[in-house]
Amino acid sequence: MEVIVNETYEEMGKTAARVVAKTLNAKPNAVLGLATGSTPLSLYQELVRMHKDEGLDFSQVTTFNLDEYVGLKIDHPQSYHYFMNENLFQHINVPAANIHIPSGTTDNYEAFCNWYERRIVECGGIDLQVLGIGSDGHIAFNEPSSSLGSRTRIKTLAKPTIEDNARFFDSAEEVPIYAITMGVGTILEARKILLLANKESKAPAITAAIEGPVTSLCTASALQLHPDTMFILDRAAASGLSMLDYYEWIQSKMPDAP
Ligand code: PGA
Repeated sequence: MEVIVNETYEEMGKTAARVVAKTLNAKPNAVLGLATGSTPLSLYQELVRMHKDEGLDFSQVTTFNLDEYVGLKIDHPQSYHYFMNENLFQHINVPAANIHIPSGTTDNYEAFCNWYERRIVECGGIDLQVLGIGSDGHIAFNEPSSSLGSRTRIKTLAKPTIEDNARFFDSAEEVPIYAITMGVGTILEARKILLLANKESKAPAITAAIEGPVTSLCTASALQLHPDTMFILDRAAASGLSMLDYYEWIQSKMPDAP
């Protein structure tokens, strides 16, 4: 695992964008796994800037999003379809046909989940997966106690997640209780993973994920089993790491490594 500490949220986004750009320069038809939430916004803003100012090209890219709420139509302002279009897709040149986001309105979830898994394989697997982390250590909607071998499926959201989301909805009935999400096992098959986290509220989850035991109670800890994961953090999210000095020492020595 690699831990990269940035001074600000904007810098965190720029660091992650450089890794995405490097991936696309090496493989213009790369398959990207994408996340929603407040965390990746500075990454998406930087990717949009690089597309506009530097010609970063997404014309051959394929994307797979991690998750979607069950029951929200794609034009609902809280749906992840809406989020991705607003914050990234409408500003870059990724072809609509290459975009995959789990459906929150299919009439056969089991068939859809199986198709989503097959489609990732058909497209060659995910080259670079972007992740955020929940304050309970979840990745995608793999809430605590999710199997570390899980695949794309329906998850019942934890009560704190539902309560946290309630502020975005007009009425209690509208707040989704279920989500469709890639599994931890699906995520671990990505060739490279970037987990982004900022703010002090994420520090306990980041410490548990990087330095705690591998446990389904913090599904991000499963990334310790992955051969190529980078944690791209701001200083507040990194503040609970007991080995922080060592991670920064490694980063400072990286350019001269043989
Ligand atoms: P956030 O959500 O980026 O809005 O903090 C992250 C998550 O819950 O996975």
